[in-house]
Amino acid sequence: MARVFVTRELPGTALERLASAHEVRVRSGEGPPSRGELLEAVAETDALLCLLTERVDAELLDAAPELSAVANLAVGTDNIDLAECERRGIAVANTPDILVEATADLAFGLLLAAARGLVDAAADVRAGRWRTWEPAGWLGRSVGGATIGIVGTGKIGTAVARRAEGFGMEVLSTSRSGGTPLKELLERADFVSLHCPLTEETRGLIGAPELERMKPTAILINTARGEIVETEALRVALADGLIAGAALDVTDPEPLGADHPLLDAPNLLVVPHIGSATHQAREAMADLAVDNLLAALAGRAVPNRVSAGDTV
Ligand code: DGY
Repeated sequence: MARVFVTRELPGTALERLASAHEVRVRSGEGPPSRGELLEAVAETDALLCLLTERVDAELLDAAPELSAVANLAVGTDNIDLAECERRGIAVANTPDILVEATADLAFGLLLAAARGLVDAAADVRAGRWRTWEPAGWLGRSVGGATIGIVGTGKIGTAVARRAEGFGMEVLSTSRSGGTPLKELLERADFVSLHCPLTEETRGLIGAPELERMKPTAILINTARGEIVETEALRVALADGLIAGAALDVTDPEPLGADHPLLDAPNLLVVPHIGSATHQAREAMADLAVDNLLAALAGRAVPNRVSAGDTV
């Protein structure tokens, strides 16, 4: 029996399966473990099931001399130093595929909500500001016939493109391997939706020069990672009307405190990193993370093993 530390309670029954084969300790309580708590917990741990809120770096690996496997409950692995894990022979796995449709739905939901000002319009109803039908009231931007620029053409970007085609949009896309050059995409798109992984190459990919290139009528959607967009540059772009709006599922920092200056920017919709937050997706993610750990601990090939240099 291996000793497994799980950094949070998970939905569904996956942890029962893990516990029937191994000695499992699940961190209870709200929110992520503190760094100190995590370092202490991994000291006598053979395998770790963690979330994107836990940094798995050299310091943590030093504190966990017996660790042989890490299962991340996320497709993104930017919280994990993959090269360091690889150097120490520690298997790392993620949870790809099963969250693609949920995340693409959310990206498209944000696009529609931002285009039509749904959140503000609904707030107006509750505040008693719906007094009559207004010819020029609550005007948004058309989605059908507009151009979407998709940055990152992995599975989620492709699933968003499929939705966009269904809505009659023109689809431009760019990725490391080609497509429309980013500069041109930013200049032509009415909606720019980010779907690339966070890497050293994509950190700060959308900063002041890129926001200046976008149309003043354009809307930025980010369901990838907050650090791909420079927060202060976005705040200024929204405040100065360089772009018409932004809809974010991810932010830098995360979580975004209620008093963060970004939230004072106009035409901004922020939701709390809920791209994969459907019952189905989260239970499937928990199942996959447990499958990955069970395989690693049994010495079998790990289904969703990630190596340094992989981009997801
Ligand atoms: C991921 O999987 O990387 C998401 O950000 C959380 O589901």
